[in-house]
Amino acid sequence: MDKGFGEFDYWGRFASSYDEGADYVVGGDLRRDVARILAGERDLGGLLEWGCGTGYFTAQVLSAARCVTATDISEEMLTMARRRLAGQWNVTFRRADCEKSPFPPTAFDTVLMANVMNTVSDPRRVLRESHRCLRYNGLIIVIVYTDWGMGIFERLQVALRYLRRFGLPPPWGLRNYSPDELGEMVSKAGFSDVSLTVVGDGPRAVYLKAKKLVEVR
Ligand SMILES: C[S@@+](CC[C@H](N)C(=O)[O-])C[C@H]1O[C@@H](n2cnc3c(N)ncnc32)[C@H](O)[C@@H]1O
Repeated sequence: MDKGFGEFDYWGRFASSYDEGADYVVGGDLRRDVARILAGERDLGGLLEWGCGTGYFTAQVLSAARCVTATDISEEMLTMARRRLAGQWNVTFRRADCEKSPFPPTAFDTVLMANVMNTVSDPRRVLRESHRCLRYNGLIIVIVYTDWGMGIFERLQVALRYLRRFGLPPPWGLRNYSPDELGEMVSKAGFSDVSLTVVGDGPRAVYLKAKKLVEVR
């Protein structure tokens, strides 16, 4: 397990089974529904993705983006994403830590992160980093799976499925956001025009979009 990049690589060991594991835990329908919404986005310009994983959601934005920089802290995940998107001309892959990235300020039109805010040790820092990397009027898209709104029994079932596929969560825990909680966090990080969509009726996904309308916080 590689710790050399400053962050414990929790997900790398699941790279080859991640998609099947995520389908098992939250359901393939939910993942497909979110992918469909993402595929409907337009004019994404130069897009930076944090935590691209196997490239499942990256594939959905390629036609609406001029170019995509797909990043992940895990080299194993990047290998899977490169494989999935081999031959796509407008995507490049780079190993990067979304809590302290190498990208210059205001370099991107869009920042996308799917299921990253719930797994990183410092999600506020990721939002600050996203704000820094976005140009004025740039768009942030945050997707998170959540057990918000589910009954206790259903939540336990999701937790059990997670344990079966992925074992114990990372040492700093996994977060389940309510839409309001996620919206407030994003607003506090300096984003405006926050819109929220809840997808699914078992395990859900919160699909958030917001704009960087202020240059400096
Ligand atoms: C739950 S997976 C989600 C993968 C993909 N976005 C999806 O939704 O299918 C979280 C991903 O974020 C990556 N990740 C975790 N911490 C990170 C960090 N600090 N910087 C960049 N990527 C990170 C993991 O390696 C993993 O690929």
